[in-house]
Amino acid sequence: MDLSSAGGALIITVLRLLHIVGGLVWVGAAVVLSFYIEPALEKAGADGGRILRGLYSETSFPSLLPISALATTVAGLLLYGMMSYHEALGSGMGVVLTLGALLGLLAFAHGFFAVWRPAATYSALTDADQAAALQGKLRRNGRVSMWLALASLALMAGARYIGPVLS
Ligand code: HEM
Repeated sequence: MDLSSAGGALIITVLRLLHIVGGLVWVGAAVVLSFYIEPALEKAGADGGRILRGLYSETSFPSLLPISALATTVAGLLLYGMMSYHEALGSGMGVVLTLGALLGLLAFAHGFFAVWRPAATYSALTDADQAAALQGKLRRNGRVSMWLALASLALMAGARYIGPVLS
């Protein structure tokens, strides 16, 4: 596919939109959950635990992060594959983008194995003690993924400005 053709430009535009809007939803939801919703629910004690379990079992919230993260990562990988070697690692911008991409991949893998997969178990748990124990683990792991995704966003969004300063 000739990327400079009208069809190629359309594909790149769609992938960029999917990547950027997906990243916005992923990181935005993770930040709001970690910094605001979870601390407020933790302070609310047993009621907070019930609300959080309702959020996970009664709404489609558990799919929001995995789906937005998957769209961001798949579109990011396709965009990365379309970059030439020079763009990817031969320039300051390429190096910063590559570091951001590595952090993004790490955020995705960590989110998948340490948060989203165990969260499916969490929503199915009926025992309140078991749910409370898993809830603490999910919260800590969720924060790690959130920081990785936030760092990835900072490098990706800043690459075109940080890159020239470095090179
Ligand atoms: C938390 C995850 C991620 C977020 C929030 C994110 C966000 C962004 C943003 C905002 C841009 C636009 C930068 C600009 O145009 O100045 C961008 C560009 C880009 N991202 Fe990501 N990204 C993430 C993960 C990834 C991953 C995992 C990859 C690839 C493995 C990747 C590959 C790219 C590429 C190649 C571009 C340049 C696209 C282009 O200019 O055509 N990103 N990203």
